[in-house]
Amino acid sequence: MLWYSLNVNPAHAPRSARPPAGWRRQLETGLEPLDRQHRDLLEALAHLAGAVEAGAPKAKLEEELAFLARHLIKHCQTEETLMREAGFPGRVAHANQHQELVHLVRDLQYRQAKGQSPDLEALSRIGIGLDQHICESDLAMAGYLKALHAV
Ligand SMILES: [Fe+2]
Ligand SMILES: [Fe+2]
Repeated sequence: MLWYSLNVNPAHAPRSARPPAGWRRQLETGLEPLDRQHRDLLEALAHLAGAVEAGAPKAKLEEELAFLARHLIKHCQTEETLMREAGFPGRVAHANQHQELVHLVRDLQYRQAKGQSPDLEALSRIGIGLDQHICESDLAMAGYLKALHAV
């Protein structure tokens, strides 16, 4: 179920909250495994936002946030392996951006463990961060990898 197909009770959402942005064609890197992981990540984020909006129980939110964290970490490892194998010159800066994204999700898990459920504003920030990272850094990395394999 997608976040926009859920009934939203405005009482559950802060007024400034916006659902995280979803997949769009401009995010396509042309590297199928990475594109699939990106779509899965954005879908997991949207799913979690839908659960938050719907006022899902704490256990459900924990499960969905853990799912997002696992997929994000796995995805970052996939890209970092590709960059290392290819000798991509921007890999350290790229990996640092991954750490920042992982930190945002880990921070939500930490807060959750303290009893604070994820909120749409934080999820939206993660969505914006992911979108920007894919648009700028992942597309640049994908361009390098594709050029390497084209010669
Ligand atoms: Fe990346
Ligand atoms: Fe990525």
